[in-house]
Amino acid sequence: MTQPTKSHGRKSIRASLKPRSLMTEKPDLAGIWRADVLTLFPETFPGVLGASLTGKALKDGLWQLHTHDLRTFGEGKHRKVDDTPAGGGAGLVMRPDVLGRAISHVLARRGPCPIIYMSPRGKPLTQSRAADLARGPGPVVLCGRFEGVDQRVLDHFDIEEISIGDYVLTGGELAAQVMIDATVRLIPGVLGNEASTEDESFSNGLLEHPQYTRPAIWEGREIPEVLTSGDHGKVEDWRREQSEALTRERRPDLLSKEDESDANIS
Ligand SMILES: C[S@@+](CC[C@H](N)C(=O)[O-])C[C@H]1O[C@@H](n2cnc3c(N)ncnc32)[C@H](O)[C@@H]1O
Repeated sequence: MTQPTKSHGRKSIRASLKPRSLMTEKPDLAGIWRADVLTLFPETFPGVLGASLTGKALKDGLWQLHTHDLRTFGEGKHRKVDDTPAGGGAGLVMRPDVLGRAISHVLARRGPCPIIYMSPRGKPLTQSRAADLARGPGPVVLCGRFEGVDQRVLDHFDIEEISIGDYVLTGGELAAQVMIDATVRLIPGVLGNEASTEDESFSNGLLEHPQYTRPAIWEGREIPEVLTSGDHGKVEDWRREQSEALTRERRPDLLSKEDESDANIS
């Protein structure tokens, strides 16, 4: 007989007849942003996400993290998850039947949500994609290993590929933590001081201005006078000039993107 759903405040816990190994350890916090991570190395989570403000927010239930061990969905006695590449070549490829079972298992427990494969071939992660993800229900994130995953699983579930940069990591777990960190800190309440995400790098299309704090003089170097003048208008102007100069010098591509979006508005 199916057990009734138990409700403890915000937490809704469903009793299930599924084997324990197929379940995530934690209860579902209904309506709270969640990441479901599919990985061969669940022990690498929460990793850095468990520290500092993201870790506190995780404990406080402002967001939730569910990891799913891909090995559980593997084939046969040895729970095989990979096989040799069709057409030959080095390495191993993650099997579509195994990944398909894992993804379907997670989707059956979630409403509509983005499914993301961390991949060096993907579109680069940006602040605006992180902000979009923070506004949504939270993604299912597939971490690859070996040579990556069978293309058919990406096509079948219409999976978005996201890269964290033009280099190749050994696996998708670090990349998933980077993406989740960039996203979760934009969820209201996670950082505590929400103003701090408004004028940081990329939020306004520019790199952030230099920052200073005490002592007033360190190794003979002084804080720029304008920052201790008490004139907020001048401080704002100085910061804007510094931001523009740094962006022009280091990331001129960001300025041309800003020009493009200005042109689209007018
Ligand atoms: C060794 S890599 C596979 C690289 C793949 N053969 C290629 O050349 O594109 C193994 C896994 O690490 C992850 N990964 C590696 N580099 C990444 C990056 N720059 N961004 C996101 N994920 C990455 C992906 O999940 C990938 O499936």
